[in-house]
Amino acid sequence: MQPLLQDLKGFPQLKRILVVGNGGRENALGWALTRSRNIEKVFVAPGNGGTEIGLGCLQLEIEATNPEKLIEACKKNQIDLVVIGPEAPLAEGLADKLRAAELPVFGPNANGAQLEASKEWAKNLMSEAGIPTANHWHANTEEEAISILNKLQRPLVVKADGLAAGKGVTVSESIEETKRAIKDLFQGKYGSAGSKIILEEKIQGPEVSIFALSDGKNFILLPSAQDHKRLKEGDKGPNTGGMGAYAPAALIDTNKLKEIEAAIIKPTLKALNRKGVDYRGVIYVGLMLTSSGPKVIEYNCRFGDPECQTLMPLIGEEFAEVLYACALGALEKAPSLSTKNICSACVVAAASGYPESPRQNDPITTETSFEENMQIFYAGAQKNTNGELLTSGGRVLSITAQGKNFDEAFKNAYKGLSKIHFEGITYRRDIGYQVRKFSKQDSSN
Ligand code: AMP
Ligand code: GLY
Repeated sequence: MQPLLQDLKGFPQLKRILVVGNGGRENALGWALTRSRNIEKVFVAPGNGGTEIGLGCLQLEIEATNPEKLIEACKKNQIDLVVIGPEAPLAEGLADKLRAAELPVFGPNANGAQLEASKEWAKNLMSEAGIPTANHWHANTEEEAISILNKLQRPLVVKADGLAAGKGVTVSESIEETKRAIKDLFQGKYGSAGSKIILEEKIQGPEVSIFALSDGKNFILLPSAQDHKRLKEGDKGPNTGGMGAYAPAALIDTNKLKEIEAAIIKPTLKALNRKGVDYRGVIYVGLMLTSSGPKVIEYNCRFGDPECQTLMPLIGEEFAEVLYACALGALEKAPSLSTKNICSACVVAAASGYPESPRQNDPITTETSFEENMQIFYAGAQKNTNGELLTSGGRVLSITAQGKNFDEAFKNAYKGLSKIHFEGITYRRDIGYQVRKFSKQDSSN
């Protein structure tokens, strides 16, 4: 059961928020929520070693996989709103359990999280609603997939149906590579995520990330963002969770956004409603701008990481109330969300060996801290028993910075990054190459 606005006392009681998750995205959400008006306390569970560094948030060491403990902590800390960051707990029904305990939650129930957790479910929804996407074929066995490939005789994109931490997709260049990717998935490379697969036509064009905040019936859009998925400069190397981002995406002007809203976002929400899904959370649409118009590459049921870090500094102080209104199914009661008309840049610093086998346990030292136009959001970082900050995962942190234009924003971000050190620090110097006058000097000074 989801609480309704009239059952509660309204927005004035929104004072204490819990963000669930342990990444840079959750630290950025926590930071933005502490800056929202009237907010007294923001907790992040389980958070990471950087949750209490400069963000104004408090860390609660409770895992997202422990709904009972989270509910207990919400009651004890008088939490008014829970914001769930990552996809895995959403797909496992964490939002359902918190709602059953009568907590207002921003984040879809397990049925809505299928948008991301099952590519087959999402593709079917798009087909039913006439939403533009790449042509595709489902396969439940290796034989079935190979026979589709033999008929088509061209390289295809191979996707695991289930969640594979952003790694279950191969954009193959040859028929041989398509075959290998099919075999890998059916032989369990991504466990049960690959027991069903989708084969997709390869499409081309720049990619943008669109974020709709939905209360189940209505939505508002955040500024669009552009991610950099590949590990290496020049968009080379393996796919990662994202090595950097910028917002707003220069490719999306007001008219384009209107087109996307009409052709993709509205029909998606309608199709969810037809399936009986009361979707209160983010609909993140990964789009490719092809020569025949925008097409959906994927849906996610959460904010993008690192797009979220990039967007949060642009978002106004109404943010907490807007998420609360979504959680209560009453977006129309929220103040309109203001956004700053500046440019935001985000560069991720990863551990060497990311994404395959990131190096860990190296001390992180910083000669910088938060500034008016620069933020540090830690992700793969943990404190040891002496309170020293050590690397603990692939993407260690991200630096975001803002400026009146992208040159200035990226210059600030790279300047901040040059003051952060850990062994094997790995980052792309060309993030935002699409929108800045690239100069090596800018990115290394
Ligand atoms: P996904 O996890 O579905 O977002 O896919 C990861 C990345 O693979 C995307 O960001 C695209 O760069 C690429 N990709 C996915 N589907 C396609 C497609 N049909 N055609 C071309 N590239 C794709
Ligand atoms: N940055 C891409 C994602 O969050 O899936």
